[in-house]
Amino acid sequence: MILVTGGAGYIGSHACLELLLAGHEVLVLDNLCNSSRRALERVEQLAGRTLQFVKGDVRNRSLLTALFAAYPVSAVMHFAGLKAVGESVREPLRYYETNVSGSIALCQAMAEAGIFKLVFSSSATVYGESAMMPITEHCPTGVPTNPYGQSKLMAESVLRGLANSDPRWSIGLLRYFNPIGAHESGLIGEDPNGTPNNLLPYMLQVAVGRRRELSVYGDDYPTPDGTGVRDYIHVVDLVQGHLKALERLEQVNGVSVWNLGTGKGYSVKEMIGAFEAVIGRPLPHVIQPRRAGDIAQCWSDPTKAAIELGWRAERDLSTMLADAWRWQSRNPQGYAETQPARQGATAQTALAS
Ligand code: NAD
Ligand code: UFG
Repeated sequence: MILVTGGAGYIGSHACLELLLAGHEVLVLDNLCNSSRRALERVEQLAGRTLQFVKGDVRNRSLLTALFAAYPVSAVMHFAGLKAVGESVREPLRYYETNVSGSIALCQAMAEAGIFKLVFSSSATVYGESAMMPITEHCPTGVPTNPYGQSKLMAESVLRGLANSDPRWSIGLLRYFNPIGAHESGLIGEDPNGTPNNLLPYMLQVAVGRRRELSVYGDDYPTPDGTGVRDYIHVVDLVQGHLKALERLEQVNGVSVWNLGTGKGYSVKEMIGAFEAVIGRPLPHVIQPRRAGDIAQCWSDPTKAAIELGWRAERDLSTMLADAWRWQSRNPQGYAETQPARQGATAQTALAS
């Protein structure tokens, strides 16, 4: 059985689905601070199988100990965390506590239970403003400019130290580039709280009529068209990389770092053009000044994951955008306006406090 922390969230819910489809038993721990139970009900519907759900906090050591005593967990995918860059500047301690202390509590409980396989959600943000492009895993980590990025780099350091201290650990640090898209069914997808911070969720909400226009943050970057360039990766490709990493952790010990990206960058203007082709109409947008803390460009060299994991992102940009649009247009308010929860779906244990 795989414990998926943060399994009700955007990436975690897609990971639960792929794990179920691959035949794994899945246990989700999520406090639902940024997600909905409905995501898990839809995962079960798509998989035709159930998972176990416990509502609780990853920082809760005694809850984790109880979970590991109650379920035959063999490995953990650790998605639970906070991810809003601006919020992390306003509430740094919450970010360090959740993203760093939460990871420490999880590892302590895992070690106590004799579980040593961990897949960790890291981010390309740990590279900072890299001088080298594309970014390989050998590029030095940078100095993240906000507590969110720092918390990911700190968590990586904690996990490295841990693996150095005890050879039983086998830890995959997966550095995501920019995950977008949704499962092709249109049943699960990204459902941010409040105003979206990221480009695609904002574009989707403009297209669906929830927001007036997109702000393009800067058109004077040293990039071909002046707008920021990123490596967008389909969330289903991304989570398939997690399953490959999990397999690999059966064979190698210590810490392994893998970039999860496509290796190709697109500018904001290219994203708008490609999205307009998907929705068949113009997307209202206006050029604004640069957003503080943004880098000009960032894309991956995904070769290491291809060689070591036998994994490569397969879905192209128009598929990413079409899948994201299917999700958003069928669920204009995200999970909020769906039907009441199905009776009996998603077993929730009495362990939740
Ligand atoms: P998300 O917010 O949709 O999912 C995170 C989940 O963790 C949510 O369901 C939330 O309720 C849960 N959670 C938060 N704090 C918790 C706690 N203390 N205890 C238990 N559950 C808790 O975010 P996501 O986009 O799915 O991201 C998943 C992971 O990937 C995060 O760690 C994030 O930092 C990392 N990541 C995301 C991106 C991205 O662009 N989405 C990029 C790089 C890394
Ligand atoms: N952008 C806009 N308008 C918006 C939002 C974004 O023009 O409303 C631009 C940004 O300036 C940037 C690009 O679109 O050029 C992508 O921005 P996102 O916010 O979607 O993504 P970032 O690359 O800035 O950040 C993401 C995650 C971070 C993570 C980082 C590196 O949000 O958590 O990737 O992994 F740290």
